[in-house]
Amino acid sequence: MERTLVLVKPDGVHRGLVGEVITRIERKGLKLVAARMLRPDARLVETHYAEHEGKPFYRPLVDFLTSGPVMAMVVEGEGAIAVVRNVVGTTDPATSPPGTIRGDLGLQISRNVVHASDSPASAEREIALWFPEGGMLEYERADEAWLYGE
Ligand code: PPS
Repeated sequence: MERTLVLVKPDGVHRGLVGEVITRIERKGLKLVAARMLRPDARLVETHYAEHEGKPFYRPLVDFLTSGPVMAMVVEGEGAIAVVRNVVGTTDPATSPPGTIRGDLGLQISRNVVHASDSPASAEREIALWFPEGGMLEYERADEAWLYGE
């Protein structure tokens, strides 16, 4: 089953939106298989966003992610990477559609509440980065038969 990394960024944590983000992911039918709350150091965040190094938003983004607590989660389910990206919405909360996390809960691109992996390669790399010791749990949700059918 596919896995993806979700981060509730410091704005989401400080605004008390961790539960809201998890609720939306869980209600969609996806399964939380790992979680850790941490204040990431610059090295972790710089590595996470390495492909954006040199862009104007890179340093402010690193400074923002290291400014406070982050809730890091691994989410599992069929098509989890694309499904979570749809639940999260588009990059800028100002234009992200209503019904999405960013569309409903944010105002500015520099404070867009969450991060979600954008491809299988990114998901694999980011999960290894934020969960270097693994620790993903295997269990069945009680509603799996209803979510997936035969
Ligand atoms: S790009 O250049 O199109 O590849 O960038 P994009 O995929 O839109 O965004 C990459 C990550 O940078 C964040 N971002 C910003 N942060 C702060 N300020 C500005 N202006 C800004 N523009 C983009 C964006 O949210 C992406 O981070 P994540 O954590 O994946 O959302």
